[in-house]
Amino acid sequence: MQNSIVINITPLSIVENYNEYARLMGLPESLFLYPNGKRFFGEWDYGQNFKNISGYKGAYAVQDMVRLNAAIPDMGNLLHLFSGSIPAGPYCRLDSNFAVIGTQVPVRDVVGDATEVHLRFPKEYFDVVMADPPWSKYHSEEIYNCSLVDKAKVLKSVHKVLKPGGILIWKDYSKPVWSGNEYDYLGRISIDPSSGHDDRSFKFYKKKGVL
Ligand SMILES: C[S@@+](CC[C@H](N)C(=O)[O-])C[C@H]1O[C@@H](n2cnc3c(N)ncnc32)[C@H](O)[C@@H]1O
Repeated sequence: MQNSIVINITPLSIVENYNEYARLMGLPESLFLYPNGKRFFGEWDYGQNFKNISGYKGAYAVQDMVRLNAAIPDMGNLLHLFSGSIPAGPYCRLDSNFAVIGTQVPVRDVVGDATEVHLRFPKEYFDVVMADPPWSKYHSEEIYNCSLVDKAKVLKSVHKVLKPGGILIWKDYSKPVWSGNEYDYLGRISIDPSSGHDDRSFKFYKKKGVL
């Protein structure tokens, strides 16, 4: 992984890259992304094709990964925060419970707390951070046997390890508290899950400033 590249990801690049993929796949226009001034929005309905990347509770859907990679084909230096069952790859992973992961890649992967990312990685190191925290006290305690993480604190910590202009993609059923001095909010992609599942969305933040 290189640390010198600065990836320029904008709301427009996300919309154009993703829509090119959607056109190629013959997806209906309702599943496209749409620019909205300085932001963008969209809704992804996975229909009957919903599949998780693993059997781990709360794992990303395969479609999450495919579509986010289409929207941002080059994520540069990437950190998967709250990484759970994500397999080892050309990125770093951090989770408080590596028991679920199996093999930890030395130097790259970290067992630790998401509120302390800045203590574990160099300053302004990542182009993109993808975060998939437990959404609520219930999810934390009942599913992951941990306390609910202080989400605002995580955003502060992530801010320190993101390059200026870097992107945070946050999956949740509510928007975490963030500072307008630190991030621009770019918009969100709602996931329309099958009946009986919590609504969720990917929220996109861009760290302010230019490297
Ligand atoms: C929704 S799961 C993530 C699943 C992952 N996206 C996947 O595809 O497997 C949430 C993860 O957050 C981790 N976690 C909870 N609190 C944490 C904290 N304070 N710091 C780091 N990880 C934490 C849990 O161990 C769990 O693996």
